[in-house]
Amino acid sequence: MRDFIVRAEGLKKHYPLSGEGGRKKLHALDGVSLTIQQGEILGIVGESGCGKSTLGRCLLRLTDITAGKVYFDGADITDHDRRALKNIRRNMQMIFQNPYSSFDPKYKLGTSLREVGKVNDIKEEVLEERIKRLMEYINLPGDMLDRRPSELSGGQLQRLAIARALLLEPRFIVADEPVSALDVSVQAQILNLLTDLRKEFNMTMLFISHEMTVVEHLCDRVAVMYLGRIVETAPTRKLFSGLLHPYTRALIRSVPRSHPDEECERIILSGEIPSAIDLPKGCRFAKRCPRATALCFESEPELTEIEDGHYVACFEQ
Ligand SMILES: Nc1ncnc2c1ncn2[C@@H]1O[C@H](COP(=O)(O)OP(=O)(O)OP(=O)(O)O)[C@@H](O)[C@H]1O
Ligand SMILES: [Mg+2]
Repeated sequence: MRDFIVRAEGLKKHYPLSGEGGRKKLHALDGVSLTIQQGEILGIVGESGCGKSTLGRCLLRLTDITAGKVYFDGADITDHDRRALKNIRRNMQMIFQNPYSSFDPKYKLGTSLREVGKVNDIKEEVLEERIKRLMEYINLPGDMLDRRPSELSGGQLQRLAIARALLLEPRFIVADEPVSALDVSVQAQILNLLTDLRKEFNMTMLFISHEMTVVEHLCDRVAVMYLGRIVETAPTRKLFSGLLHPYTRALIRSVPRSHPDEECERIILSGEIPSAIDLPKGCRFAKRCPRATALCFESEPELTEIEDGHYVACFEQ
């Protein structure tokens, strides 16, 4: 059996809604199973609200889990309390979308970075050496550490957020839309940096994005989410060459393509995403799907392996 750093089995996160006598709940995650191997970058894509961030937070156990299991490095951490989690936290880090909210504006960046080391009992010499090395990797001069967050550009600050995430040499990183808030040119720089760093540090990462092109560039494998579920997952190249789920096709086609032939096949994602509170019967995508049949409105398709490593939840396959 292969070694998985992270494994989720039937993960559910439901939020009870106030004002409905606690009867109604929002199904942010609704039965997600996945594995991430050492050194692998798994991309998570899907429209806003489909549960991407919730998945990241559940895997890092930053939130309680309604049902299912999360394993980290072979250990079941589903019910770990705060104390038990503290011991593994340094091995799991998160990079957020907005670098300005990742740092305390009051402190110089060097102070923020060193604080992370101190709280985690890293010896001062080791810490200084690591900071120096990371500043070289992220290609920023050391004197940037004497500045405060407001004195840096978004791209520079996101580099520092990445450095801070790597400071404890974590085994697993969740990057939640780390380039979405940046200019396109800066996005490319940060993606290139992540590509270089993964080679250097053999990073294992969950990379969340709602942009297919970004994920295509960086990830080994991609999972497409729709309303709290994975509807398709495959190695990146396989997914982009033979995408099968109508939703994945729509997501990819919503990116303008240069090839005129592809325009003919274009599926427009129309219609509202159904509510995650009153979920429709059958396939969650059926209402917006151009190929839906009566069966799709009756029962929900399971995620099924159709060829090596390529899973799809659609009756058409
Ligand atoms: N603390 C919370 N309480 C109640 N509902 C929540 C909470 N956090 C998230 N949700 C809901 O759970 C669903 C999934 O949210 P999530 O933030 O995971 O989506 P997302 O895919 O990351 O979206 P985006 O691309 O906009 O970041 C949404 O319907 C959201 O409103
Ligand atoms: Mg999110």
